[in-house]
Amino acid sequence: MKNYLITGGAGFIGTNFIRHALTARPDWNIVNLDALTYAGNPANLENLDPGIAGRYHFVRGDICDATLLDSLFSKYIFNGIIHFAAESHVDRSIQGPEDFAQTNVMGTFRLLEACRKFRKDKKMSDEFRFLHISTDEVYGSLGPDGYFAEQTPYDPSSPYSASKASSDHFVKAYFRTYGLPTLVTNCSNNYGPYQFPEKLIPLTILNIIKEKPLPVYGDGKNIRDWLYVLDHCDALITVLEKGTPGETYNIGGGAERENIEIVHLLCDLVDDRLGRSGDKSGRWLIQFVTDRPGHDRRYAIDATKIKTDLGWTSARTLEDALESTVDWYLNNMEWVDSVQSGEYRKWIKQNYQHRGVNS
Ligand code: NAD
Ligand code: DAU
Repeated sequence: MKNYLITGGAGFIGTNFIRHALTARPDWNIVNLDALTYAGNPANLENLDPGIAGRYHFVRGDICDATLLDSLFSKYIFNGIIHFAAESHVDRSIQGPEDFAQTNVMGTFRLLEACRKFRKDKKMSDEFRFLHISTDEVYGSLGPDGYFAEQTPYDPSSPYSASKASSDHFVKAYFRTYGLPTLVTNCSNNYGPYQFPEKLIPLTILNIIKEKPLPVYGDGKNIRDWLYVLDHCDALITVLEKGTPGETYNIGGGAERENIEIVHLLCDLVDDRLGRSGDKSGRWLIQFVTDRPGHDRRYAIDATKIKTDLGWTSARTLEDALESTVDWYLNNMEWVDSVQSGEYRKWIKQNYQHRGVNS
């Protein structure tokens, strides 16, 4: 059996990754280290099939806690780390950047230090990999043409992307300086099951269902390159198993859309499922609101390297995967109610009241 340490596995992508990996890799034991911030939900992983549940272990804790990391590295001989844990929401980073510096930069540093010690103690096998999950936002904003390639210079705009950029630099420096076998992936916007409803797609789906305003920042023409989360999970296993240490791989869905197009698509999908039309259509709920400061205009990934070198491409079309995402939320309203807690309502008020959303 192989032991993998997953950080931030109770969040959106981590949950999907753990569910996917436990099934796709029957020889993996997974230790999920998660601090359970507002974005982490251990219930996401509570109803695993009995056939795979025995290979999943949850540890509540902070990646900044060096003592806890030491104890985990003493208890387990890890074959690798897949590092998701982060503060991940751009709007929250604008309102409160400190947690982003702490978790994203210092937390990554602590994990790298724990790995360096593990290696010094001669416990690290040749196949060990430190897979750092990063974002296309580190590259900044594109104009109407061009794509982010692995050699695009970093130019982050928000405290979130600045903290991720910094963590990427630490990871790459530990490869160059100490020879730690690291891999970095820079991925575009994910969507799918278990995404916390503060991000555009789940927030829009739930607001349409509940007939609440659909806040669209600025003119709604900012472009994101959308990737279905399970395609991302496939890509991550590919990079972990086939990637070359020290390398970076960009991961994208090849599905660029303006935000307003995404909102229109979601309105049509939910209307269809709930049999709404005319003046009951979700499109009547759209409100253009005050823009995000420093709002990047366009992201688009050039995924040639991961395709050519490792043979990965995204499998699902945006339209099909959005439809199944809408169905997942409609079928999991209990999960939705459980995450829309007091803390969630406080955030919605804090982020949208000053933007002039009439709720
Ligand atoms: P998320 O916010 O849904 O989940 C983050 C998880 O990390 C939560 O479970 C939280 O409890 C945990 N966490 C936060 N601080 C921690 C700490 N100090 N110690 C331990 N655990 C902590 O995030 P996500 O959307 O699943 O993103 C996962 C990773 O992927 C992040 O590193 C993010 O930067 C990156 N990423 C996300 C996207 C996207 O579209 N969601 C795209 C590209 C890259
Ligand atoms: O590109 C990858 C990044 O994608 C990840 O690194 C981040 O962790 C993830 O949160 C995501 O960042 P974005 O800022 O692109 O995602 P968000 O869902 O917050 O916003 C998507 C777009 O929609 C963006 O242009 C802002 C806009 N938006 C967002 C919200 C929440 C709105 O117009 N209205 C909204 O209410």
